[in-house]
Amino acid sequence: MLDVFKTSKNRNEKKEIVLDKDNIPKHVAIIMDGNGRWAKKRKLPRTVGHKAGVETIRRVIKEAHILGIKFLTLYAFSTENWKRPDDEVSALMKLLVEYLRSELAELNRNGVVIKILGDITKLPIDAQKEVLNAIEITKNNTGVVLNIAFNYGGRDEIIRAVKLISKEVEDGNISVSDINEGLLEKYLYTSNIPDPDLIIRPSGEQRISNFLLWQCAYSEFWYSNVCWPDFKEEHLRKAIYDYQHRDRRYGGV
Ligand code: IPE
Ligand code: IPE
Ligand code: MG
Repeated sequence: MLDVFKTSKNRNEKKEIVLDKDNIPKHVAIIMDGNGRWAKKRKLPRTVGHKAGVETIRRVIKEAHILGIKFLTLYAFSTENWKRPDDEVSALMKLLVEYLRSELAELNRNGVVIKILGDITKLPIDAQKEVLNAIEITKNNTGVVLNIAFNYGGRDEIIRAVKLISKEVEDGNISVSDINEGLLEKYLYTSNIPDPDLIIRPSGEQRISNFLLWQCAYSEFWYSNVCWPDFKEEHLRKAIYDYQHRDRRYGGV
């Protein structure tokens, strides 16, 4: 038994939640949603919500390490998020740079491996540099693998893979009959990363929003009404607790 935390449904009743350390999901992916609504409720600009969300990232990475989660994927900016007002888009780009500048040393000390899922060539040059530097510095670490999904879209990822594979066929390196699931996976941003066992979405929305479309085939989903800046360690633990009580059948009996 790994850990215990108590939730009280009312003042008199305390319920203990115990996690099974032998059934911790290997890969947890989170759609970090609700920053804007969190800020709106407080009559603050949306960008303040995004900043508050960074605090949650710090907490969740630490907790993932404590719980023994090996892969943590955080959806930070989608291929559709470019539709947002210019000032919000640039604030999110700036936040990525600030986050990596301020956290990289500590993440590296804790053995975190930073990876990026998405097309970073469309990011401002300073963000690209910061991202490449973080990947390079942490590449030989052996701790939690932190995948930051930035300018990521599941459809975009699949189209990119199809183009790369088509090129291999065109060049005569492979034939059409070589194409199978295993081969396609090698051309995804997530090659060498196992599929997510658990996908978490806070903020009350219950949709996938173009996240890990190929990889979520047999993921378990967990939703919460709290907005991302209010997401705490206990929410992650509750998600894992619920995950541990599901029956994953993968189409079998
Ligand atoms: C953060 O939450 C997700 C990002 C795209 C950065 P939102 O900005 O989508 O917040 P809501 O959904 O408008 O509340
Ligand atoms: C999904 O959230 C993308 C990220 C969290 C980065 P959105 O807020 O963009 O999704 P929709 O628009 O509600 O589907
Ligand atoms: Mg949103």
